[in-house]
Amino acid sequence: MILVTGGCGYIGCHTIVDLLDNGFDVICADSNIRSNASILEGVEKITGVRVKNYAVDLCDKEASRQIFEENPSIVGIIHFAALKSVPESVDQPLWYFRNNLNSLLTVLELQAEYKVPNFIFSSSCSVYGNTKELPVTEDTAFGEAECPYARTKQIGEQIITDFARKYAKTNTILLRYFNPAGAHESALIGEISYGAAQNLVPVITQTASGKRKELTVFGDDYNTRDGSCIRDYIHVMDLANAHTKAVQYLIAGKQQHNCEVFNLGIGEGVTVLEAINAFEKETGVKLNYKLGPRRPGDVESIYSNYELAASKLGWQPKRNIEDIMRTAWAWTVKQNA
Ligand code: WQD
Repeated sequence: MILVTGGCGYIGCHTIVDLLDNGFDVICADSNIRSNASILEGVEKITGVRVKNYAVDLCDKEASRQIFEENPSIVGIIHFAALKSVPESVDQPLWYFRNNLNSLLTVLELQAEYKVPNFIFSSSCSVYGNTKELPVTEDTAFGEAECPYARTKQIGEQIITDFARKYAKTNTILLRYFNPAGAHESALIGEISYGAAQNLVPVITQTASGKRKELTVFGDDYNTRDGSCIRDYIHVMDLANAHTKAVQYLIAGKQQHNCEVFNLGIGEGVTVLEAINAFEKETGVKLNYKLGPRRPGDVESIYSNYELAASKLGWQPKRNIEDIMRTAWAWTVKQNA
């Protein structure tokens, strides 16, 4: 059985689908502070499985203990649960440190106490900061964190690295996501924005559906092929499958050492204007956008080298920016139906 914390969240629910599709039993622990357990109905429609959610605050160790008491067959934990809004973390840094780090510490303490052998951490390319070394590899050093959210991912990785040194029998993996986007082909699950979306793809779909008046391109004067920022957009179902591959890798005992890091991107960069063009071409919907000033904290360009995940986990991304835009739009249309 695999425990997925934050399993009602965007990446979490897609990962649960992929785990179920690959024969794993799954339980979820999600306080629903930034998610809705109804997303598990979508998971059930896709897979036929009703996943149980423990709606607990993972900062509350005694409340979280029941998960492990009631599920002695947990062999692995995938830890997604965290707050992840960049601007909100700038506005409320101490809440972000308390929530993201205390929940991680609770899960690790319970993992050690109940001797769960495998742990996978949801990390982020934002640990690299504004690196100029492109494409980014797992050996690229941490850069200055652009925000407290990114800092919680850097500190989280360091906590787990020290945890793995102490608990030599545990196997841990840190997965550094680039820019997750898109939705399941069925349009039964997808990204739900709490408040105004900040990330590009949900901003595109909200603009296209009329929920937002227009989209502003944050800067067209960067040193890139069309002046707008470059990112490595990875379809959420490819990202989900990477987690399943990582669980299978750990359970098969293939690790060389007990704390390994993998980049998860598709190894190519797309500019903001190219992403907008891909959406319009794929959906036939014209976007109302304008060119505006740069957004503070944005890095000019970042994209991954994912060869390590390909060679060691046997993982390959199968979808591109067009698949992202098509599925994101189908999910939006279904939500607004
Ligand atoms: C992408 C590009 C914007 C909105 C964030 C987090 C990172 C990770 C992924 C969790 C940028 C441009 C955006 C808009 C725009 N999250 N943009 N107009 O900032 O690369 O990464 O999500 O791990 O931690 O920082 O993603 O989607 O916000 O921006 O022009 O209305 O789209 O300037 O160049 P980002 P994003």
